[in-house]
Amino acid sequence: MPRGKRIVLITGGTGFIGRRLVKKLLLQKQTHIYLVVRRASFSKAERMIEKLMLEFPSAPEQIHIVSGDLSKPTLLESAVESAQLQEKVQEVFHLAAHYELGISREDAMKANVEGTLHMLNFARGCEKLNCVHYVSTLAVAGDYKGIWHEDMLLAGQQFDNHYAYTKFLAEVEVREAAEELPVAIYRPGVVVGDSISGEMDKIDGPYYLLVPFMKLQALTRSISPLIPIFFPVAPGGDRIKCHIVPVDYVVNCLDYISRKKGIEGKTFSLTDPNPLSMREFIDIFCDKAGWVRPAINLPTDPLVWVLRLPGIKQLAQSLEPITNMPVEMIHYTAYGTKYDTTNTKEFLKGSDISCPAVKSYAGKLLAYARRYFV
Ligand SMILES: NC(=O)c1ccc[n+]([C@@H]2O[C@H](COP(=O)([O-])OP(=O)(O)OC[C@H]3O[C@@H](n4cnc5c(N)ncnc54)[C@H](OP(=O)(O)O)[C@@H]3O)[C@@H](O)[C@H]2O)c1
Repeated sequence: MPRGKRIVLITGGTGFIGRRLVKKLLLQKQTHIYLVVRRASFSKAERMIEKLMLEFPSAPEQIHIVSGDLSKPTLLESAVESAQLQEKVQEVFHLAAHYELGISREDAMKANVEGTLHMLNFARGCEKLNCVHYVSTLAVAGDYKGIWHEDMLLAGQQFDNHYAYTKFLAEVEVREAAEELPVAIYRPGVVVGDSISGEMDKIDGPYYLLVPFMKLQALTRSISPLIPIFFPVAPGGDRIKCHIVPVDYVVNCLDYISRKKGIEGKTFSLTDPNPLSMREFIDIFCDKAGWVRPAINLPTDPLVWVLRLPGIKQLAQSLEPITNMPVEMIHYTAYGTKYDTTNTKEFLKGSDISCPAVKSYAGKLLAYARRYFV
């Protein structure tokens, strides 16, 4: 990427990953950031800039809010502003998406597929475009069994939720566009809180599994600290890998790799290159939280099979208000995919960025979740 002034346009900059990426990009004073924000989220973006000003006094000069929405074919609200930006934007980071496992097909198609097409249309008009950094997800691998290499996409995999399926369809579009546009694709795993501060936006991924036990522990502690908490089973056991990745690693990779030469046409898996098994993951959290480790592993493949029968998933979804967990979560304890991270490792060479071990940050995630989610 050329040195000097860097002009980037970011979608999803007010989100969990996007906010941290914006902060990271501010470290380079010559970077100017155009944040595509929905009108309804303007005040959120303004508050974000005010907060950033405490650390980066130049934030208001470096960040510019522009009104836009994934549902708009032109992406941006104003045609004049769109034309002006297309004259100067050098890089587009596309993070905006509707990220929710239980999302309807219609909503997912609109935000994730049509929204991506709208972003690509905008990018096509950018005269000085160096790269579109498209944030996908490892979930595009669906239920693929075996090693998922970074260049793979169409592999006969099946999908069990509309979010993953529409992110897959969107990536198909992005790859097609990559024949005429410079594009780099980044696929994070299941993103958890910051490995240093534990900060996390919401209950998501493994937190669905952990928070109920934290609540139970808070309740029993108020009676007696001697009451033991038993974690009953380890879903997925030793066979299934747990593909969690802390948000700071994802953002460090996005920032560093996006500035490297030769990334166009490449895909990067942003996840722990040495993932724990589900069993190891649960054992670590049990030890850190003071819970009794599960006595048995529970293979969840039969459950996934049953959930694919007509009407069963809908029935299970009707129980979500009681379980407080999207039923789609179960599938991720049964998928036997292993993710190759060769490109990421290659492009991180020379940096001090590496994915921290779960053991080193599990306590931080628990402390933050105990404070804000229990
Ligand atoms: N979190 C994960 O575990 C994970 C894992 C793998 C991949 N990813 C991918 O990473 C990206 C960012 O995820 P995240 O966790 O940061 O998501 P998030 O916290 O839900 O943020 C989503 C962002 O998209 C924006 N957005 C949603 N709909 C929009 C629309 N119609 N028009 C314009 N902006 C819209 C939101 O803006 P508002 O502020 O207006 O709501 C927000 O800034 C997504 O592409 C996701 O698929 C996430």
